[in-house]
Amino acid sequence: MKILVVGSGGREHALAWKLLQSSEVERVFCVPGNGGTATLNRCENISLAVDDFALISNFALKEEINLVVVGPEVPLAQGITDYLQSQGLKVFGPNKAGAQIEASKVWAKTLMQEAKIPIANSAVFNRAAPAKSYIKDHELPIVIKADGLAAGKGVTVATTRNQAVEAVEAIFRGQFGGAGEFVIVEECLIGQEVSVLALTDGLTIRPLLPAQDHKRIGEGDTGENTGGMGAYAPAPIATVNLMERVQKQVLDRTINALRARNIDYRGVLYAGLMINPSGEFKVLEFNCRFGDPETQVILPLLETPLEELMLACVEQRLEQMPPIEWKQGACATVVAASGGYPGVYETGKVITGIAQAEAAGATVFHAGTILNQQLITDGGRVLNVTGIGENFEQALGLAYAGIEQINFEGMYYRRDIGYQVKG
Ligand code: AMP
Ligand code: GLY
Repeated sequence: MKILVVGSGGREHALAWKLLQSSEVERVFCVPGNGGTATLNRCENISLAVDDFALISNFALKEEINLVVVGPEVPLAQGITDYLQSQGLKVFGPNKAGAQIEASKVWAKTLMQEAKIPIANSAVFNRAAPAKSYIKDHELPIVIKADGLAAGKGVTVATTRNQAVEAVEAIFRGQFGGAGEFVIVEECLIGQEVSVLALTDGLTIRPLLPAQDHKRIGEGDTGENTGGMGAYAPAPIATVNLMERVQKQVLDRTINALRARNIDYRGVLYAGLMINPSGEFKVLEFNCRFGDPETQVILPLLETPLEELMLACVEQRLEQMPPIEWKQGACATVVAASGGYPGVYETGKVITGIAQAEAAGATVFHAGTILNQQLITDGGRVLNVTGIGENFEQALGLAYAGIEQINFEGMYYRRDIGYQVKG
């Protein structure tokens, strides 16, 4: 079987790596891939833009690709699935209508309200003045969200009213690109976040192991929000009981609500949850794709061949699949980022020590790297140094032993990934 993976992050490297572990998968192509997928055995990078659907389709048809797996949200929201399907290709990833669940927070909120999914109190505004008066009447901290895709930068957790008002003004000034028509003002939830990624064929929905991300740039969960600085799985805070409630109150209700809108959703539904200290949860957001870096800690623990699960989703026979099997143990990843990320950073720095990190027992998934004779940095999040072990102590130990071997100018990483699960 030949598979095409669309995207260039750590998530896509992990997807390609996992898919290639199956004896059924002969070859994986990545569009455009990164320095990691360039050197992976039986994997090849194809230098096409992820939004050039016609060229991607031509390539996939010429190579007789059996399955296209779409990593990032932007091409999904632009309708890559609809286009490739119309050309006769099999695609894992929702169509444009389904991708709205991530691409429009207002659309997703309406769906969640109608489906009676537990969410924070919130209000939507299309003008600044009423949003500001709502802020005046509500408690701090308060959360301000832009509608639309804003690469993780559309949310402000404001601790002062001034900060909240500034966030509202910035959104209506169009600071988040197209995402400037609506503002959501939302109650601030406290607790621990958990990412529940689930596979669905539009009828049946099954969760993968729950994972915990570390969104903030600084140790102790301080500073700016990022795409994610590290993760681990399975997250013990998501107990069996909690996962049963999530299945009933979130996953099943969402699939039913999508069907009621005639949306045939096949791919990953990612629910970002906040679990409060008494064990109650609310949904913060949905994503229409695999999480990054969550995927890098979930897939190493997966026993069932990934392409079998994906094809069952695409061919709408997930219900007939046996339960998903998992390895015992734990997985953790630490992100090595460029100095200055999530703000301004430089690229083009030479990366050393990956072979030594792997010799120390870590698995290294590349994110922002390119192979240009030498391996050099090419993005904010550069590497995901991953440990797979019998328990968290071992997994985290391997990840940190690995990252200590790696170096590039300005490299930054959090030294406290997994502090919630350390003995
Ligand atoms: P979202 O894109 O809605 O997930 O928001 C990105 C991040 O902002 C989340 O992962 C949380 O860390 C934070 N966030 C979003 N909504 C809330 C909320 N209501 N209360 C507290 N934090 C939030
Ligand atoms: N790690 C958060 C995300 O993928 O959205």
